[in-house]
Amino acid sequence: MAVTISIGSGKGGAGKTMILCNLALLLAKKGKKVCLVDLDIGGADVHLLFGLFNPKHSLADFLTRKVTSIQDVIHTFYSLNGLQLIPGSGSTLQTANMSFQEKQRLLRSLKTLDVDVVLIDVGAGTSYHSLDFFMFGDIQLCVTLPEPTAIMDFYSFLQLSTIRKVLGSFLSSSEVSTTLKKRSFASLHEVLELAEATQTGARSRAQQALRYFHPLLIINRDIYNGQVNKTKLKQMVAKYLGIEIPPLGNIPEDKAIGDALKAYIPVCELSPDAPASVAMSQMADKLEKIISLFEPTVETSSPKQTKPS
Ligand SMILES: Nc1ncnc2c1ncn2[C@@H]1O[C@H](COP(=O)(O)OP(=O)(O)OP(=O)(O)O)[C@@H](O)[C@H]1O
Ligand SMILES: [Mg+2]
Repeated sequence: MAVTISIGSGKGGAGKTMILCNLALLLAKKGKKVCLVDLDIGGADVHLLFGLFNPKHSLADFLTRKVTSIQDVIHTFYSLNGLQLIPGSGSTLQTANMSFQEKQRLLRSLKTLDVDVVLIDVGAGTSYHSLDFFMFGDIQLCVTLPEPTAIMDFYSFLQLSTIRKVLGSFLSSSEVSTTLKKRSFASLHEVLELAEATQTGARSRAQQALRYFHPLLIINRDIYNGQVNKTKLKQMVAKYLGIEIPPLGNIPEDKAIGDALKAYIPVCELSPDAPASVAMSQMADKLEKIISLFEPTVETSSPKQTKPS
């Protein structure tokens, strides 16, 4: 089964699509069979980064059952190491109001793709769709710009992702879930308090659900040269959200990215020596190692859930 990697951010324009397209291509160049999936409902633009202006099929064809299999909407870039793409759809009533069942059908279908890695681009922010698609990844990448306002949005995004993860850990029919669903929460602490008050042991169950939630931190357009107070951010997230965010890397502000956008080619292909390409190449090396932790081992043939270091 493919390892899924999702990417999310608090603010729009943090660089998710640019980063994911480049990581997808870099992993494909390493010999992985890779499929990029554009689940930015309403803001789908991954195909444009590759100069694919009129994809024959898109996700909408699958969602509206014009095609029966998700395989039918795949576009393959043969000149880019066989990288595959499932182009996203515009925002139609059908896609914007996707039901729970439709969302499950879509996510299940992604697990059937015959590839090693599925990379999922997710819309910015904290809509249910965005959070659910983000949480679906076996590995989550979270991106922020270094400015304080972006960091605030980033923190809110992580907080809501964490709450959604905890809510998802209780069976939808359980007493805890029924109680939690009636309320909206401003902090994870409130969720845990109410869960425990409803049922003894619910707090530790929720904390257990967060044990393997370690979104990997990417700081993009890092004009401060790594001077963002990452330690403080990590401490805050660990203290208030109870999760770790190991760093995947920093990407500098780089003019080559704009040039690549205009050429409709990922920057790591157009300018492999540009500082941003070098940074993303190092990130792809790290990611390759983390992906291998999820691959079946020879002895057990079952995926290993190991905390990335
Ligand atoms: N490190 C960088 N240096 C220079 N330009 C960058 C860098 N990162 C991203 N950009 C530019 O910033 C813009 C936004 O990037 P991108 O579309 O990837 O963000 P996004 O997070 O996917 O946005 P959205 O939330 O709207 O989907 C693009 O024009 C991109 O080329
Ligand atoms: Mg985007």
